[in-house]
Order: sequence, then C-alpha cells, then structure tokens
Amino acid sequence: MKDKKLYIKSFGCQMNKLDAGLVTAAFEEDGYSITDTEDNADVVLFNTCSVRANAENRVHSRIGYIGHLKKTRPHMVLGIIGCMAQRLGEEFLKDTAVDIVCGPSQIPDLLGMVNDVISERKKIVSVCADVREKPDATISETLDEFEYAFDSSKDQKTNQAFVRVMRGCNNFCSYCIVPFVRGPEVSRKPQQIFDQCKKLVDEGAKQITLLGQTVNSYEYSAGEKTYRLPDLLEMLSEIDSLKWLRFITSYPNLNHDEDLFKAMGELDKVCPYLHMPAQSGSDRILKAMNRHYSAQQYLDQLAVARSYVPDIAIAGDFIVGFPGETDEDFEATVELVKKANYKNIFAFKYSPRPGTKTDKKLEDNIPEEIKKLRNNELLKVQEQISAEYNKRYEGKILEVLVEGPSKKAHLNKAQNANNPQLIARTATDHIVVFNGPESLAGNFAQVEIEKTMPLTLFGNLV
Ligand code: 5AD
Ligand code: SF4
Repeated sequence: MKDKKLYIKSFGCQMNKLDAGLVTAAFEEDGYSITDTEDNADVVLFNTCSVRANAENRVHSRIGYIGHLKKTRPHMVLGIIGCMAQRLGEEFLKDTAVDIVCGPSQIPDLLGMVNDVISERKKIVSVCADVREKPDATISETLDEFEYAFDSSKDQKTNQAFVRVMRGCNNFCSYCIVPFVRGPEVSRKPQQIFDQCKKLVDEGAKQITLLGQTVNSYEYSAGEKTYRLPDLLEMLSEIDSLKWLRFITSYPNLNHDEDLFKAMGELDKVCPYLHMPAQSGSDRILKAMNRHYSAQQYLDQLAVARSYVPDIAIAGDFIVGFPGETDEDFEATVELVKKANYKNIFAFKYSPRPGTKTDKKLEDNIPEEIKKLRNNELLKVQEQISAEYNKRYEGKILEVLVEGPSKKAHLNKAQNANNPQLIARTATDHIVVFNGPESLAGNFAQVEIEKTMPLTLFGNLV
C-alpha cells in the first residue's frame, strides 16, 4: 500500500500518551503519514484506558463508528492497544470491526501485526497470558529497546519530553485496575534512562518528566548499589543543557520519601512540584482502599516535603463515592483538602472495575447523584484554596517554559499577529497566559504576574 495513513487516538494517562508517541514514530519510520481523522485512515489505533468505566465506554462507541466506516473502506485495519486490550483480550473480537488486540507489553510487535492483518486478513490477539507474572528479561529488554529507538516524545514545538523510568504497579489499591493490566513493577536500568534523557536533551529537550505509576518506588539494584529516585534525579541533573526535571506520580511512601524531598531541595533542576494523591481523608476509607497511611500521616508527609522545599506546589487526586462513604467520611476528605493547601486537585467519582478487590467485595452503593455532588463540592473547596494560594504570585516575576499559542490566540489574531496570547508553565506547573511572539514556543521566558485565577496566572512578558 502506498501513502498509508495512520490515525491514532489516546485515552487516559501520560503513560498512554508516551506509548502512542512510540507507536507513531515506529509507524512513521515505516512510511506511514499521520492523519487527524479516522475518516481517511488506513490504520486506526485506539490506545485505551481502563481506569474508569467512562473511558472504556468512549472506546466502545468509537469502535462503533469505525464499524460504520469499514462498510465503505473495507481495507481499514482497527487495532486496540493499551490497558483495555490487556483487560478484555479475545473478548474484543466479538466486535467484528476490531482486527488487532495488543497489550501494553506487545506494542513493539504492533507494526508486524498490522502487516499480517493486511496481507492475510486475519485477526490477532496478543496480550500477556498472566499479566502479574514478572516479565522475562527478553520482554523487558525488547520494550526498553523499542522505547529507546522510538522515543520521539520530545515535542518539536514545546521542547518537553517524557521518559518512563518504571512499568507496572505493586500497590493493589483495592479499587484500581492498573496492577491487573500493567503488571508488576519493573524499574529500568539507570544508565539506559540516563542515555535516553541525554539523547532527548541533545535533540533539544529542555524539560524532562520522568514517568511511573508510583515513580517514587523506582528501585534498581546493580551489584552493591541500589538506585532510587533521588539517585536518578542526581544523575540526570548532570546533563548540561537540561533545565527542568520533573517526575509523576508519587505514592505516599512513608519510609523513603524524606530522601526524595531532600534531593528535590538540593538539586536546582528538579522542579518544586509534587503530584501525590491522597484519594481520601477518611482513615476508614483509606484502609478499605488498601492505602498504607492515615490522613494525618499523609499531611505530615506534606509537611516534611515543605520543610525541604518551601515553595513546593502539591497536587492531589481524590476518589469520591467509594462504597460505604458516609457524609462524615466525605467531610474528612474536605478537611484534608483544606489542610493540605494543594496547588490543585483531580477528583474522580468511584467507578467499579471488574476484578478489583473493591468490586468483588463491596457494592457500588453511593448513588451517582451523591457522587456528583461530592465531586463538585470538593472541587469548589479547592477552587477557593487555589484562588487564595495563587495570590502569592501577584506582582512576582516568574520563569516559564512556553508551550505555544493559547486556544484563544486566533480570536484577536488581527490586532496581535506578532504578539499572540501564549500558554506557558512555571516550574511549579502553574499555567501562565501572556502575550508574546510565537517564536517563544519551546523557550524559557520571564513573565510578571498581574492577575491570578484559581487555574491560571495572567501576566506580561518582561
Ligand atoms: N474509580 C475512580 N477513580 C479511580 N482512580 C483509580 N481507580 C479508580 C476507580 N476505580 C483514580 C485515582 C488515581 C487516578 C489516576 O485515577 O484517583 O490516582
Ligand atoms: Fe492504582 Fe494504587 Fe497503583 Fe496508583 S498506586 S496505579 S492507584 S494500584
């Protein structure tokens, strides 16, 4: 097939976006061009997420649309990759539009699968038979090599890159599907991570974000030495032209995190930003969630972080409407949010996930209406906190990494052709909006903050 077109759509987290980038680069190298609509695609890939039911439902309805397109474009190939592929496996083939089901560990073989489907018009399912089995060394090595070869995650415009430092999760929070679809924790070799980051920086990356489901559990033993996240941060700080280094997402790890906070305080390139989900403020619910800390221990942990990194901005995740969550439990969550003084939070309505312990043992007994009310209430509480929190930046000059024109830039394009509205981020991950030349995209700039809103800071280029 000449001039083959790939459409790829990602649902879910940064990890998924990273996978989509790798797959895109591998297909481009094979001669595919990327299209932004499935309507004219030869190959359609849905990179799926299983964390909540609504992410899965969206994929099912998109598959329906592809089935419709296939009536007039029968040569089209539809592949489902990512977490849902691993979770549902063969079951996906019940939907006749689906040609390939490929789990997260099988993506290095995806191009070969697509070629086989094109030449033999067959269906292929390739997922881990037992996802909790520690992957053998060859699988991990193949994934690492694929990652190294196709990591084009450095966005050409923004000069930001993402690098996975570990796969999987060992925590088994009782509501969470991730350990069942991404398998056990496997940390990548520090030298390989270093080489990859060095390569990305040589290609122009100015900011690197290290990714892991529980990134602060990173641990790699080589002979006598055990490398943990602070060691990695120290190693990577040595890369000259790298300016900002971040990592997401952290699990409140009461034993090890002090070393991490200390390293954050000492290493200039490490951004003062921490994404550390609490999930709930009720000890009873935290226990049912199999989270290994109390609300107070969590708050103490944030205090330790702040003692080493005074200007640290902290983000949290919460699940509302967990089975059996009473008004008092929810109030405890509100209290925790008030005390934590977050920069921002993400709030999710509990979504039962088949196969998880909560789903097996506890009925999803909080009505959708209540979940929605609690979700909105929590966000409203945080909105006030963020409004207050952000005032500290008024009148300050902040360094930002510019991402590019804002979505609204086109509205006043005529007046501001050389000075469009730009979007940028601070080291603390605050969004900053200001006017400036588009050529600033991918560069650092100084912005004097004039006005602040709960989610955005507005200012002027210095
Ligand atoms: N229902 C709702 N939210 C969930 N999360 C994980 N599993 C579920 C679930 N079953 C949320 C957690 C996690 C974020 C990525 O998604 O808050 O931190
Ligand atoms: Fe899921 Fe808990 Fe692992 Fe996060 S730490 S991915 S919430 S099991």
